[in-house]
Amino acid sequence: MARKFFVGGNWKCNGTTEEVKKIVSTLNEAEVPSHDVVEVVVSPPFVFLTLVKSLLRSDFHVAAQNCWVCKGGAFTGEVSAEMLVNLGIPWVIIGHSERRALLNESNEFVGDKVAYALSQGLKVIACIGETLEQRESGSTMSVVAAQTKAIADKITNWDNVVLAYEPVWAIGTGKVHCELRKWLSENVGADVAASTRIIYGGSVNGANCQELAGQPDVDGFLVGGASLKPEFVDIIKSAT
Ligand code: G3H
Repeated sequence: MARKFFVGGNWKCNGTTEEVKKIVSTLNEAEVPSHDVVEVVVSPPFVFLTLVKSLLRSDFHVAAQNCWVCKGGAFTGEVSAEMLVNLGIPWVIIGHSERRALLNESNEFVGDKVAYALSQGLKVIACIGETLEQRESGSTMSVVAAQTKAIADKITNWDNVVLAYEPVWAIGTGKVHCELRKWLSENVGADVAASTRIIYGGSVNGANCQELAGQPDVDGFLVGGASLKPEFVDIIKSAT
């Protein structure tokens, strides 16, 4: 199955109402390849989700940056998958390295979150990636395999999952993507390995996106800093 190029813009914890409107306006005016060629998803902070959804062109979609691990209830400060569905938000980012590192989200917790979000009908950008220390100790593949296994253990259908591999050190190599696809093939199934998009995150910008897009097994990007700037349009265009 052909894998459509995917470009995600993770706005992280940035923006004011005016800044968000400006970014959306830039995106709405941009001439980019059609939705048949590239899938574009932007992820504003929770408080701007409905504003962005209401203003954004219809061929681009929105993602939340997180959701709770199970049905909503007495979980102060959390946002449930059901709420996102209720608002018509189609995508959610789960397991971003910043949440794994700063909020101690474990592999198992991330796997449970992915499974619950999928069960509620959300599509998931599931993030994996090793730290610099893990990379330097030679454990890159064992770390990302364990992170992927924690997800694979909890789900059977990968149709609505995009895997985002995000190590800063690996920019431009594409090597881990190939290994990851092999891991999926051997541990989940050849069909899933062939159809699941594995995207790359880590300092992607307008200057390096073309080269990165040409790397083997890189099916798109999850962009942080540059997704807040007009160069995000150039990154979308790297799909062609
Ligand atoms: O979610 C995006 C990644 O953390 C990459 O962020 O493009 O600012 O390096 P960055």
